[in-house]
Amino acid sequence: MKGIVLAAGAGSRLYPASLPISKILLPVYDKPMIYYPITTLLLAGIKEILIITNKYDIDNFKKVLKDGSQIGVKFSYAIQKEPKGIAESFLIAEDFIKDSPVALILGDNIFHGFGFSSMLKEVAKRKTGATVFGYLVQDPERFGVVEFNKNNKAVSIEEKPKNPKSNYAVTGLYFYDNNVVEYAKMLKPSLRGELEITDLNKIYLEKNKLQVEILGRGFAWLDTGTFESLLQAANFVQSMEINTGMKIASIEEVAYRMGYISSNELLKLAKNYKQNGYGKYLEKIALTV
Ligand code: DAU
Repeated sequence: MKGIVLAAGAGSRLYPASLPISKILLPVYDKPMIYYPITTLLLAGIKEILIITNKYDIDNFKKVLKDGSQIGVKFSYAIQKEPKGIAESFLIAEDFIKDSPVALILGDNIFHGFGFSSMLKEVAKRKTGATVFGYLVQDPERFGVVEFNKNNKAVSIEEKPKNPKSNYAVTGLYFYDNNVVEYAKMLKPSLRGELEITDLNKIYLEKNKLQVEILGRGFAWLDTGTFESLLQAANFVQSMEINTGMKIASIEEVAYRMGYISSNELLKLAKNYKQNGYGKYLEKIALTV
């Protein structure tokens, strides 16, 4: 399975904080925001990842993530010229996807929770159809919303409905079989001029091929869309990291635990940050795990 991180938005809701650099490269506590979605894909066992960015930020993303070989994976880059919709990712990524199934994650989506890795690995194994994740929220009208019947089967999915049929938001993490490129080509721009990810999910739903996994209350799905929520996300990460002594979403640690790099390679990466706690943490992992 291949993976895509969509990180092309201007991030204008966070101006002036995100004026100099993509919102997705702003720090969430001790690491750039993109570390979090990349970690999610790595935990699903995905090693080939395309980062879709805008033309202004592509070099910054390359500076942060390089070609991936330093952590034993492969990163490549593509440009979305204008924000024409999340589902445009599959048109931009057609040559990258080839005949593979593919997972897409939005660059500003942060997930954390017990059992998430095993859930991701299970979902990534599915051969056909699509899988999305539902999360209970108080303000469903801001999201794609999924409605369930009595048997917990998804029956409708709507983008930012005025009158939501449930409180379950569809998160920004999507797994698709290889039909996704063909289906994305069938989409027409919505009233707001975008190829909507929700319209793509509706195609799978209508074919009875959409599975919705519920992320329960033990899960954190963090918003980074406003000044307040970005700071809250950073505070959440800091508090979890201090309480447990473990880091959330360290791509170097995850690559090591997945067996993509050796302890010597991790020690070498740790040296890049030897002046701070991030480097010391990686060093400790390399020497003790
Ligand atoms: O976060 C989950 C939600 O993401 C879903 O519940 C919605 O169904 C889905 O439409 C999306 O809603 P948003 O309102 O968050 O979408 P937004 O336009 O803010 O884009 C999400 C991220 O993707 C943001 O970082 C910008 C980036 N993006 C968006 C579009 C439309 C791109 O890079 N390119 C694009 O063309």
